[in-house]
Amino acid sequence: MEDFKHPTEPFKIKSIEPIALLPRHEREKILRAAKYNIFQIKAENIYIDLLTDSGTGAMSTAQWAALMLGDESYAGARSFYRFEKIIREITGKKHIIPTHQGRVAENVFFSTLLKKGDYVPNNTHFDTTRANVSHKGGIPVDMPCPEASLDDEIPFKGNLDTRKLERFIAEKGADKIPVVLMTVTNNSNGGQPASMANIRETAEICKKNGIRFFFDCARYAENCYFIKQSEPGYQDKSIKEIAQEMFSFSDGALMSAKKDGLANMGGFLALNDDDLARRVIELLIVIEGFPTYGGMSGRDMDTVAVGLAEALNEDYLAYRIGQVEYFGKIIEQAGAPIIKPTGGHAIFVDAGKFLPHIPNEQYPGQSLTVELYREGGIRAVEIGSLMFGGHDPVTGEKVTAPKELVRLAIPRRVYTGAHLDYIADIIAKIAVRKNELSGFKIIRQAAFLRHFTVELEGIAKIQIQVG
Ligand code: F0G
Repeated sequence: MEDFKHPTEPFKIKSIEPIALLPRHEREKILRAAKYNIFQIKAENIYIDLLTDSGTGAMSTAQWAALMLGDESYAGARSFYRFEKIIREITGKKHIIPTHQGRVAENVFFSTLLKKGDYVPNNTHFDTTRANVSHKGGIPVDMPCPEASLDDEIPFKGNLDTRKLERFIAEKGADKIPVVLMTVTNNSNGGQPASMANIRETAEICKKNGIRFFFDCARYAENCYFIKQSEPGYQDKSIKEIAQEMFSFSDGALMSAKKDGLANMGGFLALNDDDLARRVIELLIVIEGFPTYGGMSGRDMDTVAVGLAEALNEDYLAYRIGQVEYFGKIIEQAGAPIIKPTGGHAIFVDAGKFLPHIPNEQYPGQSLTVELYREGGIRAVEIGSLMFGGHDPVTGEKVTAPKELVRLAIPRRVYTGAHLDYIADIIAKIAVRKNELSGFKIIRQAAFLRHFTVELEGIAKIQIQVG
């Protein structure tokens, strides 16, 4: 057996938040009451919460101190200028427009930019990005690189398929494509990074065709760390230098600062185009706030300003990415197949492979998600046919997801190595009796984003009598 150790946390704990594991019969009752939908479970009933790494990180002493300096002036707050300064330093962009989270940046951007029937290519859209493009009449098009779907352990599986992009532009015409997006890291594709070479090539294709190129950069610092680790020529550069180079290829960026901003709330748009910025700001004032606060309080802007700088620290990133890598190894060792190589913010268990006796239409990912709570009070999220399945709006045919995954997202600076070991122990316990797990059926669902409110019922396992 390979000998590995979890990375030592590069911080000590000053303030704690108690957590406790409820007795098993309580957990069983809670699952039933939630109709087997983990979004419906109260946080106080969760022991370890891996639902998301978004807005769930722990702030540093420097961030808590910065919070006290928050300037809550309606217009021209000092906090905004501190926020603007660091984002401008990293992205090099002229206009820094705050929003209270990433999806509002998406909303104001696509509302301003898209005409009905416009296409938006992306390596892979995150679900709010996809929903915002569609909501404004656009057509989101995913173009993950061909290696993304392979099981091989190769770096930069978050890349965009540049040949496909070129063909797509030639076919549809550049005037139907107001922007190409690149999500770094590629959340919906295993949190895999994109390489600088791929970013540069995508930017060149866009430039040649007169199309804007923007980042969805929620986890850009983690992406830059992967570039430093694995892409030739970047080993001696600082993470900040790599980030600056990355953003230099783009016309702008949208960010949810709840990830690599190390903050509990926040987001922004960064861009150079004066006219586009003016139109975005006009809408921002109507739906979000004045452009020196954009839906955030002054203290939130200060925590983001400090968090963005901290997220570029290499010791922090080595621990962060090391923690995810370690977690992947112990989960595999516990007997669950995972997507490899491990990405930046989460481990994705391949529940389709882990529970091959449960068909896609019975949601193997949900079965594992429910079992993680039942067995260990752990909350994860299904990313498979429950989240992405349904019926094709045109043909009416039943759609299932290409993979039945369960995401175990790791909040930043929150759980220690011991917590991760506990989760792997629970997975090992489930693995020995996994054949006893059965599937689920939907009893109630919404038309959009059904996974948040869906109600489910367990399907009793049919006992096959032999003889
Ligand atoms: N873009 C990416 C790549 C994201 O992962 C998210 C959020 C958003 C945009 C939207 O940002 O939540 O601040 O409005 N991802 C979270 C997740 C929710 O769990 O992966 P938001």
